Amino acid sequence: MSKSLDNLQTAFSGESMANRRYTAFARKADAAGFPQIAHLFRAVAAAETVHGLNHFRAMEGVKEVPENIQVCIAAENYEVVTMYPEMLAAAQEEGDKRAAQSFNYAWQVEKIHEGQYRQAAETVAQGKDLPETEYYVCPVCGNTHEGPMEGRCPICNTPGEKFEKIA
Ligand SMILES: [Fe+2]
Ligand SMILES: [Fe+2]
Repeated sequence: MSKSLDNLQTAFSGESMANRRYTAFARKADAAGFPQIAHLFRAVAAAETVHGLNHFRAMEGVKEVPENIQVCIAAENYEVVTMYPEMLAAAQEEGDKRAAQSFNYAWQVEKIHEGQYRQAAETVAQGKDLPETEYYVCPVCGNTHEGPMEGRCPICNTPGEKFEKIA
């Protein structure tokens, strides 16, 4: 791997994390009564997304649609089969309840994602787009639901009306 390819990968990871970190900081600033600080965090977070996407494209991370979906299936499958089970077990062993809950939420939802991507791969392999679907995401666990959630989130018990509709 060239030095620049290696650096693009590192920078892509760093910018991706910065985006999420600033997003979390913006929510905190809003809650703490600093809406303009929150605004700054969101602006810089958006710029880090631009940087991250630039790096990702420069390392030729974006392929054709079927190939991109295969990348997603592999990533989600790794998280479902290996990464989160191991992380969850380690957190439970250490008695770190917050880590365990966070890993468990992600683990449960990655199973859903893997299935959704597998279905997408099958559809795209036939040269078709998915049927029009409404997606709703749980703000607590990330549950990615097709259509409005009736009742409560089966993963984290959040009321369905709190789910965010994805544009
Ligand atoms: Fe996922
Ligand atoms: Fe949830």
